[in-house]
Amino acid sequence: MYKVAVFVSGRGSNLKAILSTIPKSIKVACVVSDKLNCLAFEIADQYEISTFSVSDKVKTGYLHYEELLNVFTKLEIDLVVLAGFLKKIPDSFVDKYEGKIINIHPALLPSFGGKGMYGMNVHRAVFDRSCQVSGATIHFVNKVYDNGKIIAQETVDIGDVDSPEDLSARVLKIEHKILPEVIQKFAENKIVVKNNRVFVKN
Ligand code: GRF
Repeated sequence: MYKVAVFVSGRGSNLKAILSTIPKSIKVACVVSDKLNCLAFEIADQYEISTFSVSDKVKTGYLHYEELLNVFTKLEIDLVVLAGFLKKIPDSFVDKYEGKIINIHPALLPSFGGKGMYGMNVHRAVFDRSCQVSGATIHFVNKVYDNGKIIAQETVDIGDVDSPEDLSARVLKIEHKILPEVIQKFAENKIVVKNNRVFVKN
């Protein structure tokens, strides 16, 4: 069984897409948030998946990242997926899961990424620049925001969008498609890093 931990901060539509698409050989073993409650936790509850709130500070109701690492070791987590997680992951945690931690970004990196570039901020910037295409990017997480090697990208035509909200809905459809696909490729051991590039094997 290939075990995945999914990090979320809000509504959890990507979590839902993962849960409704991945094969039985892959298990979402836990869902982690920087919030005590969020819509994504309700989705996790429906699927009877354990949830944990995490903080880099010592706070009631939250696990510290160091404690979360122990939980992940016990659960034998193979892959950490950031799916709409808004906080930066501490370096010590990234070190432990290097090569096994990925993020989905709702634009075509390396454009429109970096600190502050999340959620609607991204879509507003893409819209205001009058970009004619946008898309989603899945990349490895390293210690710099949105800077890890790119694993997968898919584009969408946005030549006729009339608002950033319209644009975000188009990109979200792509996110829901490519994130479960990439998770499956990881489980099948078909993501290979070679010559400083990432290959997704058929
Ligand atoms: C997605 O667009 C994701 O790419 C971004 O935040 C949004 C989260 O949406 N980082 P959801 O919580 O999966 O519905």
